Amino acid sequence: MKITIGCDHGGIHLKDAIVAHLKNQYEVTDIGTYSTESVDFPSYAEEVAHRVTNKEADLGILVCGTGIGMSIAANKVPGIRAAVVSDCFSAQATREHNDSNVLCLGERVLGEGLALRIVDTWLAAEFQGGRHTKRLRLVEKMEGK
Ligand code: RB5
Repeated sequence: MKITIGCDHGGIHLKDAIVAHLKNQYEVTDIGTYSTESVDFPSYAEEVAHRVTNKEADLGILVCGTGIGMSIAANKVPGIRAAVVSDCFSAQATREHNDSNVLCLGERVLGEGLALRIVDTWLAAEFQGGRHTKRLRLVEKMEGK
């Protein structure tokens, strides 16, 4: 599975920890940022989102201070279903019910241990289809697809 990950300066330590955690199991592309110098999160959200919709990546992960800015930006790209998650139950549910294709995490919200468990839970879960498919189609209609 191909995973693209990006962050701003508020998420760089957690982003690096996630890359280290996943790199032996998955094909991970790290699009930065690579330093703690202040940057604008929408640029990173847009690049990860486009890599997912272009199918250069199967799934995306975005990290900022809260995960919220990244999710707001990534969800502007048609076809992206980005979810901010802070617990394992929601991580599983948002794959199973929402078919989320981008996971957004907040470095200033989560400890590293919980964040890595959330990542593992999200990657292991699968979309359940069925009644959830109809609801995703309704969301797609809102995008004008
Ligand atoms: C950067 O200071 C911070 O605003 C950003 O990382 C993120 O939390 C925005 O939602």
